[in-house]
Amino acid sequence: MSKLSLDRILQSQGFGTRKYCRALVDDGEVAIGGVVQTSYKASIDTDGLVLTVFDEEWVYREHVYIALHKPANFECSRKPSHHPGVLTLLPEQFTWREVQPVGRLDHDTTGMLLMSDDGPFIHAQSSPKRHVPKIYQATTEAPVRAELVSALLAGVKLHDEPAPLAALTCIERGPHQLEIVLEQGKYHQVKRMLAAAGNHCTALHRSAIGGLTLDSLGIAEGEWCYLTAAQLALLAPGMPATEATDPT
Ligand code: URA
Repeated sequence: MSKLSLDRILQSQGFGTRKYCRALVDDGEVAIGGVVQTSYKASIDTDGLVLTVFDEEWVYREHVYIALHKPANFECSRKPSHHPGVLTLLPEQFTWREVQPVGRLDHDTTGMLLMSDDGPFIHAQSSPKRHVPKIYQATTEAPVRAELVSALLAGVKLHDEPAPLAALTCIERGPHQLEIVLEQGKYHQVKRMLAAAGNHCTALHRSAIGGLTLDSLGIAEGEWCYLTAAQLALLAPGMPATEATDPT
């Protein structure tokens, strides 16, 4: 059992500053189990807690682990400059609780983006030591040739990289379509590898991370979902998955 005061709980869930969270309770906007709460000092068990705030239900989560189906023309950076940031696609509470992308996708890349407010999870998932494979669907300007596939599999030299980088697998999916699986997450890696191998990437989509596919999540572009413990376990063996709860 883990008990916290109601104002701390509200703040931890991203409802705003402690002062604002206290005011929410004072204004009668917070209920638990159908009972409007009158004291922000009340000590509440967070296990299985469901809050109602402004008539909307919120399952208490110590941390959030989500997948976003990123559309084009959104930036992953904290301070986006040319396009809106991906956080604008999520509830405001997630900005307050400092949810951030796990790694980055370019502004014009679509597909699966993991996001969380769990620092160790973000670190572990992004660590090159984890060798988490990421699966990309790339559209190429020039037709895909056997030499392109073999060059990507053999490894290509990128500027600023000491050793050549190779795709784990590379499969021709159509005359201008390649499925590329990478273990690393270097800056513009797919686009730079394709350029180094003599082609040009005109569109890029991340379809899976580890064993978790975007299709299996059933979320349309711009939509997001909480990841269950079972889905987190698919990302990479040994990831911390105990905090995840089913989407509600
Ligand atoms: N490689 C790229 O070139 N861009 C991405 O967004 C992801 C991988």
